[in-house]
Amino acid sequence: MKKEDIEKILEDLNALKCKTAKDVEEARVRYLGKRGEITALFEEFRSVDGAVKRELGRPLNELKQKAIAKIEELKEALAQIEDESAPKADLSLPGDPMSLGSRHPVSIVRQEIVGIFRKFGYDVAEGPEIEDDHHVFEALNFPANHPARDMQDTFFVSAGHLNPLLLRTHTSSVQVRAMETMPLPIRVVCPGRVFRNEAISARAHCIFHQIEGLYIDENVTFADLKQAILLFAREMFGPETQIRMRPSYFPFTEPSAEVDVSCNICHGKGCNICKGTGWLEILGCGMVDPNVLKASGIDPEKYSGFAFGMGLERIAMLKWQVNDLRHYFENDLRFLREFNTSIEV
Ligand code: DAH
Repeated sequence: MKKEDIEKILEDLNALKCKTAKDVEEARVRYLGKRGEITALFEEFRSVDGAVKRELGRPLNELKQKAIAKIEELKEALAQIEDESAPKADLSLPGDPMSLGSRHPVSIVRQEIVGIFRKFGYDVAEGPEIEDDHHVFEALNFPANHPARDMQDTFFVSAGHLNPLLLRTHTSSVQVRAMETMPLPIRVVCPGRVFRNEAISARAHCIFHQIEGLYIDENVTFADLKQAILLFAREMFGPETQIRMRPSYFPFTEPSAEVDVSCNICHGKGCNICKGTGWLEILGCGMVDPNVLKASGIDPEKYSGFAFGMGLERIAMLKWQVNDLRHYFENDLRFLREFNTSIEV
């Protein structure tokens, strides 16, 4: 073993150039592999005499370190070239659109109606969907034998008690809760889901949505009711809208009325939406029955008020001329996407 052997390999290492990862691996095997040139020198080193060991020990170790460092250096240089030649992301491309969906038509109508009444100074109240007989019927002056109190019409959760639990059949229950808890005067709208034991068809469903309105103060008259409904109808269906009130009956209001708005499709001429009449029914209303005020602890001699209630699906059907109620519950995306008022995030 001679000094020149080490110097020769050192020179080769200094001149070493590699184009591919395979070249680098080959070089590593050639110098540092099991049968590599440097490994062989170490083998030989074991059997040389002491003087040679002292002379060549250190340069041999340095050669090995140098070889290891060189191979690493070559590897890194190649990796960098590969990085640079890899295809780069084109930052000027438009981003992937994020689909946010759209509001459900019933929500759109609810927000619109709540927004209108908020402008008139009404608060918003909500109540439980599982209610008791007292809030759904008793306090609203329903006679004991009223058909709504029958299993045929109402979903009972627990029957047989004096005050059974049931799924509320109308949001009028929330006006009872408002009268029980809110300070007078009360001006409130109550949107919510209601449940009735109905066969499902194009015109009826066992679940739907209502919004209830209640105004109680001193000296509230039927003229106030009429004006509130007229203003609402014009905000909702356009400034040309006319209303008409037809006498009706509800246990909790006296007198009671049903309200029609002039058909905003044919403007009163008659079309198939208004079935040729020029009018569309939108809500029920009336002056709160004194018995209802009394049941919630309000003095009917001092206070009076009006109430109204409407079906959100019905209003949405009129607004967008949807002819089958079931569309609102099936969540068919083709239907829901028709209402693409995008959601604010
Ligand atoms: N609760 C009635 C229903 O479900 C709707 C209604 C009518 C509510 C007249 C009222 C009202 O507050 O005054 O059909």
